[in-house]
Amino acid sequence: MKILVTGATGNVGSFLVPELIKRGAQVRIFTRKQPADGAYPKEVEVAIGDLLDPASVASALKGVDKLFLLNAVSPSELMEGLIGFGMAQRAGVKHITYLSVYKADTMRNSPHMATKLALESAISHSGIPFTFLRPNGYMQTELQIIQPVIAGMGLYPLPLGEDGISMVDVRDIAEAAAISLTEEGHEGQTYDLVGPTVRSGPGNAAFWSKLLDKPIQYGGHDMDRWEAMALSQQMPAWYVFDVRAMFEGFYSQGFAATSFQIARLTKLLGHAPRSYEDFAKEAVARSS
Ligand SMILES: NC(=O)c1ccc[n+]([C@@H]2O[C@H](COP(=O)([O-])OP(=O)(O)OC[C@H]3O[C@@H](n4cnc5c(N)ncnc54)[C@H](OP(=O)(O)O)[C@@H]3O)[C@@H](O)[C@H]2O)c1
Repeated sequence: MKILVTGATGNVGSFLVPELIKRGAQVRIFTRKQPADGAYPKEVEVAIGDLLDPASVASALKGVDKLFLLNAVSPSELMEGLIGFGMAQRAGVKHITYLSVYKADTMRNSPHMATKLALESAISHSGIPFTFLRPNGYMQTELQIIQPVIAGMGLYPLPLGEDGISMVDVRDIAEAAAISLTEEGHEGQTYDLVGPTVRSGPGNAAFWSKLLDKPIQYGGHDMDRWEAMALSQQMPAWYVFDVRAMFEGFYSQGFAATSFQIARLTKLLGHAPRSYEDFAKEAVARSS
């Protein structure tokens, strides 16, 4: 069985490729640039292309049975997703596992989240067997901010709010994706991918303070202040708009997992979802 993996070089995809190989799948990755020599085992096929270029997607899909579809957050995310899905439909793939987002059905004013709902709708109405993966916030996103915290900023800058979110380890996302693509019984399923504990802004500041044995303050969640800071750091304005709407959605919708979701994920993975505590300790050990 041959599986085309989009987003293979990113956070989730880089863990998904070895998970698929471990389960005996033939893997073809789709990427915009040739990977460095030795970046992948030699049995991994590489298709160079761009999700904005339908012909390159059609060519990558030749002889492929199943598709893992992941789209980067960008102003053209919906176009990229619909081209990936549409060309897979034309190619007659037997299954699509689509990387969506937690609570995609309720987060309608954040562009990258609204995009996920539109793509879920297109895929679920196509007749192609599918699995939707709806991850909560990635723990690994914090790697970009843990480093400055460790280096001495003394600030926990993610505006997670007081109620918090159930961050998930991307290794669990990759495992869930591999299971959905290589085992029977996941057609038509939507899985919420969540961590076992709720991580709040003040809670994470206190957690890091204890772990690193130094004072770490929470930066707060005044979103006007956050937006001004993000724009001053030259983040693209469209991205700041999108991420602000996402954080505000966290506060209004609630992003804490239910015990049912944790139990269902535990059953899917065959083990408890990885904990934030273990993730943080590993990150610190790697950086020291
Ligand atoms: N971060 C979070 O907390 C979080 C939570 C829930 C859901 N999500 C969702 O997760 C997705 C991002 O996943 P990720 O973090 O694993 O990805 P990532 O690390 O941001 O990497 C993006 C991937 O997309 C590929 N890509 C970008 N533009 C492309 C194009 N035009 N054509 C083909 N490939 C393209 C890149 O491949 P090349 O550069 O090799 O071409 C790369 O592999 C987003 O949809 C986001 O909304 C994120």
